[in-house]
Amino acid sequence: MYYKIKTYGCQMNVHESEKIAGMLEAIGYLPCEEEDQADVVVFNTCCIRDTAEKKIQGNIGVLKSIKRQRKEMIIAVVGCMTQQKGAAELLKKKFPYVDIVLGTSNLADLPQAIEAKRRGKKSVLLQDSTMDAAVKLPVTRTSFPNAWVNIMYGCNNFCTYCIVPYVRGRERSRQIDDVVAEVDGLIKEGYKEITLLGQNVDSYGSDLANGENFAMLLERIAGIEGKYRIRFMTSHPKDISSQVIDVMARYDNICNNIHLPVQSGSSKVLKEMNRHYDRERYLAIIDELRSKMPDIGITTDIMVGFPTETQEDFEETLDLVRKVRFSNAFTFVYSPRKGTPAATMPQLDAATKKARITTLVAEQNQITKALSEQYIGKVYEVLVEDVAPKAEGAVCGRTESGRLVTFAGSADLIGQFVNVKITRSQSASLFGEIQ
Ligand code: SAH
Ligand code: SF4
Ligand code: F3S
Repeated sequence: MYYKIKTYGCQMNVHESEKIAGMLEAIGYLPCEEEDQADVVVFNTCCIRDTAEKKIQGNIGVLKSIKRQRKEMIIAVVGCMTQQKGAAELLKKKFPYVDIVLGTSNLADLPQAIEAKRRGKKSVLLQDSTMDAAVKLPVTRTSFPNAWVNIMYGCNNFCTYCIVPYVRGRERSRQIDDVVAEVDGLIKEGYKEITLLGQNVDSYGSDLANGENFAMLLERIAGIEGKYRIRFMTSHPKDISSQVIDVMARYDNICNNIHLPVQSGSSKVLKEMNRHYDRERYLAIIDELRSKMPDIGITTDIMVGFPTETQEDFEETLDLVRKVRFSNAFTFVYSPRKGTPAATMPQLDAATKKARITTLVAEQNQITKALSEQYIGKVYEVLVEDVAPKAEGAVCGRTESGRLVTFAGSADLIGQFVNVKITRSQSASLFGEIQ
């Protein structure tokens, strides 16, 4: 019996799919490459933007004809999309051949839902519980030498454009000892990079009884023996503390790399987004990061086309991008999400949004290109992650600052640290040779 998982959305979902794989393998399923060979197909969904939802719906639609030929195939839809108000019912209506729909907090019920379906139950729909942060599910890890580790679930911030707090529930931090024990075990197993996950890692611990915080957690993890790297995402400018920045600077095994979403360069728009920081505060954090870690790689998320964004607001975003010089930026066009405050505001027209994103992307591309060129001729320690996707006989890995480097080498290097001299660059990608 075979399973196939289709994953959409953020790293949180990538890791959750590893838990889905772990649960399915525990009840006897094996992975396969193609949906049409699978006995169980799981869609682990995202609803952050309309484009994500449309794509998933298209892919569920594709299965209709396969399911018609193979009636015993079980189709399950789980994750953020199903947790939206009324979404599960809508899904069942649009795709009646979907067998199982589970909300984000009912993930642990998947094996029972599959068993029930196999015993002949018509369909299963669950979206009611709130999964405790202490629940441990089996994990089949698929990203060696990196291992994802949740430190918290949910989000309390209610940025006015964002659906996540509605579909992931309130913040729940895992106990510090549990997280440290998991990381310790992973390092003993040979993982070389640990990526800590949370929607807002900087508020880790605010719901714990003992006053623990993210800086303390980072410090405990960085103290574990061995040669490995620590990364984390996502940081929130309203909560990041000097204590966190100091710990990052103090420990060599915490990467000189941060993903710090800014969203907008306009203090007025930031206020309307409910972000709780302004342009000046964001720039002050960047200064602090760079003064304590001069070679830090900083990436960000930026949104254009928020309902109240004027041309002047957008120009402030462009100006901030020029000032900060991010290594890379993930840029998005605002997409109204039903049930969020911003969706009820008057919306900007599509042409304005398109013009702004095009201008922003062009600006950032120039910066990324110029920063890449600065790497040329220097030697960096790279953790080899995988064989290069397009080049024969080549592997790829990341510098501590988070840059992807491709160079000649064989698959047995995966999981090793090597020194690579950068010889050329192409936009965000670097190319080099082992020293
Ligand atoms: N927790 C993280 C990111 C979560 S979602 C944080 O607070 O930054 C990832 C990114 O998607 C966000 O940073 C934002 O830039 C983008 N995003 C969220 N909601 C969106 C929406 N409605 N339309 C377009 N982009 C959105
Ligand atoms: Fe969404 Fe804001 Fe929470 Fe990030 S911090 S997940 S953008 S509500
Ligand atoms: Fe998408 Fe859910 Fe992540 S909405 S971005 S998969 S938290």
